[in-house]
Amino acid sequence: MKAISVEPKKQGTARLIDIPEPGVNEGSVLVQAIAVGVCGTDVEIVGGKYGWAPPGQQRLILGHESLGRVIDPGPSSGLKKGDLVVGIVRRPDPVPCPNCAVGEWDMCRNGLYTERGIKEIHGFMSEYWRIEPEYAVKVDPSLGILGVLLEPSSVVAKALEQVDLIGRRSFWEPKTVLITGAGPVGLLAALFAKLYGLEVHVLDRMEGGPKADLVRDLGATYHSGSVMNLDFEPDAIIECTGVGQVIAECIQKIGANGIVCLAGIGHGGATISSNIADVAASAVLRNNVIVGSVNANKRHWYRASQNLARADRAWLAKLITRIEKPENFMNALKRRPDDVKVVIQFSEI
Ligand code: BGC
Repeated sequence: MKAISVEPKKQGTARLIDIPEPGVNEGSVLVQAIAVGVCGTDVEIVGGKYGWAPPGQQRLILGHESLGRVIDPGPSSGLKKGDLVVGIVRRPDPVPCPNCAVGEWDMCRNGLYTERGIKEIHGFMSEYWRIEPEYAVKVDPSLGILGVLLEPSSVVAKALEQVDLIGRRSFWEPKTVLITGAGPVGLLAALFAKLYGLEVHVLDRMEGGPKADLVRDLGATYHSGSVMNLDFEPDAIIECTGVGQVIAECIQKIGANGIVCLAGIGHGGATISSNIADVAASAVLRNNVIVGSVNANKRHWYRASQNLARADRAWLAKLITRIEKPENFMNALKRRPDDVKVVIQFSEI
């Protein structure tokens, strides 16, 4: 079968290769890949900056945003042939740490967790993949190819849950949420925040265009330019850009008792001139919490699948802006200005 793999930490090694079909040791459920979403993490891995091959192997099969069709449900999964499924990304560490022991692998303490398509386990960019039944999430069949949005949705469901849990340390009745960055994670965060009844604002550097239209179609408000120019102080901010300047501005702009949830993964960039002690003083004097949020556990995958099932299909469909064939995977990894989610399609839905 065909698979897209890479030698992690070596730029220029990504290829479409031929490999044997996965063995039953990789999971009792056999799945035919339909589509795999591409995200910044894949771009980083292909760029040689991130990623780990399985122990004793040189190459890693890419892909962590999956969608497939069950070909063989195996003996005990409760799934049926033809069901649409998505694979959970992270696996608990083998020790396990207390969080992994209770199913909170997203909060792993010792860093020994593994992740499909990212860290030491093969991903989903192959014509067929296998999965353990407990890590297969059934997708509402009416979502069709939109089920490929479930992985980024799980990350969003966790981030919003974190904000809610932290908020409840005091009287918490949030009204406004700001989302910085109108990429897939930002737009899904806007969708979910709307479903949760919040007044939603999305800020992106683009002045207009399809992303701004998507925000307005949700009934949310679109802003471009600097966070500092906003004329309100949000109760919560979901920061999805990973850009230092934007992060610093979010920390200054958040309202009293407000929470800044960092969900974007950035690197380097210009040095920020704000003095750390001044930023910290503002957080202290206003009871702010700045929290990082990564990955998702089963509870978040469940919540995400519920939210996606409630969402307007026509709106969701506009998030998938480009579909590429596996042989053109390098095109999928090159970002174009109006791209939201680019997907590699392996088989017809
Ligand atoms: C994935 C997460 C993963 C993180 C770090 C993100 O792109 O969505 O599931 O935990 O990368 O590897």
